[in-house]
Amino acid sequence: MASRTFSKALRSPLGRQLASPAVQTRTFVSAMGALRATAVASRTPARPAQQQVRGVKTIDFAGSKEVVYERADWPKEKLLDYFKNDTLALIGYGSQGHGQGLNLRDNGLNVIIGVRKDGKSWKDAIQDGWVPGKNLFEVDEAISKGTIIMNLLSDAAQSETWPHIGPQITKGKTLYFSHGFSPVFKDLTKVEVPKDVDVILCAPKGSGRTVRSLFREGRGINSSFAVYQDVTGKAEEKAIALGVAIGSGYLYKTTFEKEVHSDLYGERGCLMGGIHGMFLAQYEVLRERGHSPSEAFNETVEEATQSLYPLIGKYGMDWMFDACSTTARRGAIDWTPKFKDALKPVFNNLYDSVIDGSETKRSLEYNSQPDYREKYEKELDEIRNLEIWRAGKAVRALRPENQ
Ligand SMILES: NC(=O)c1ccc[n+]([C@@H]2O[C@H](COP(=O)([O-])OP(=O)(O)OC[C@H]3O[C@@H](n4cnc5c(N)ncnc54)[C@H](OP(=O)(O)O)[C@@H]3O)[C@@H](O)[C@H]2O)c1
Repeated sequence: MASRTFSKALRSPLGRQLASPAVQTRTFVSAMGALRATAVASRTPARPAQQQVRGVKTIDFAGSKEVVYERADWPKEKLLDYFKNDTLALIGYGSQGHGQGLNLRDNGLNVIIGVRKDGKSWKDAIQDGWVPGKNLFEVDEAISKGTIIMNLLSDAAQSETWPHIGPQITKGKTLYFSHGFSPVFKDLTKVEVPKDVDVILCAPKGSGRTVRSLFREGRGINSSFAVYQDVTGKAEEKAIALGVAIGSGYLYKTTFEKEVHSDLYGERGCLMGGIHGMFLAQYEVLRERGHSPSEAFNETVEEATQSLYPLIGKYGMDWMFDACSTTARRGAIDWTPKFKDALKPVFNNLYDSVIDGSETKRSLEYNSQPDYREKYEKELDEIRNLEIWRAGKAVRALRPENQ
């Protein structure tokens, strides 16, 4: 069904138009592009009018109106002026540190990195052109130089290091996070923020690698932003400006609580845990009913990731259903409520486990163990060696680009 779906979609005139890169990128193009977008819009399915007009900030999301902030409001000169008196001290150089740090540097801002000397991150930072003594320092020195302290250590490390780092966040500095985890679950993390500093958040909705790659493509990642504590009266504006400076295209307002609750829930659910569980369940039934590994894999993962999920991402679920055979469509629509009813109690359990702190406790306990990397590598190895993923490796090896 997969190849039929995709080729059918592309064969149709509408499909060809929708496959045009011009259409897929146009919400991020500037005034010049808006002209082209207007022409293209006449050939594409109806979308909320607000998304096609620059400068309109209130967007109607399915009947719920929200203010959305965008990169176009903060051109580079404005960012440079806004942060002209600031030193952004970015603590930690892992996935987010790398992406956000390089974007800040490319935007021309005064950014320095603070990491453990001679650790992996220190070496990675040097590889990326940060210079010890110039814009690469040990953590304490970077914090002392910084006016905006961007805590991008892993969440477990934020808790572990807080007794040492917390007292260094003195009046006049701003404390920035990319996750609400540490302050929201302060009973568990012990991250009690100082009362006299602005505490803000910008959480990119994707990995640090994507923060970087979308920035380099001239686009920007969707991020949420929030204010936990506003002592200057300028915390919200600072969060938005910083969100743009790190490479966000669009910024959605939230709270620290909502950000951490939805994020922990989503990654355990549809984004990663839930989808892996569903792949495994479908694959195992196919195998137990006599299907070959390749057939079970193709019907479970390959078709999903190579054909159908990208279509959902680009055009929505209804469009994807509409591009499928009548047989596939009928069955999918019939079975949707059965899956929803079976899964909703699991999602409710998961949400409860997030808000009562169980997920945070588990994460802190596991990730604080001295041998957590070895334990995690063992688990990854078990996943890697599952039949489904070994079959997947063989299927991917046949792709022309891998030959
Ligand atoms: N990754 C994502 O997709 C993502 C997306 C959105 C938001 N976030 C949030 O962004 C923040 C950073 O996450 P991340 O994924 O970028 O983290 P990460 O890749 O796990 O980076 C960990 C960093 O913490 C440092 N570190 C670990 N333990 C330390 C310790 N005891 N003392 C000093 N430094 C230590 C590491 O340095 P060494 O190399 O020296 O060990 C490294 O620089 C988190 O709040 C996370 O929830 C992440």
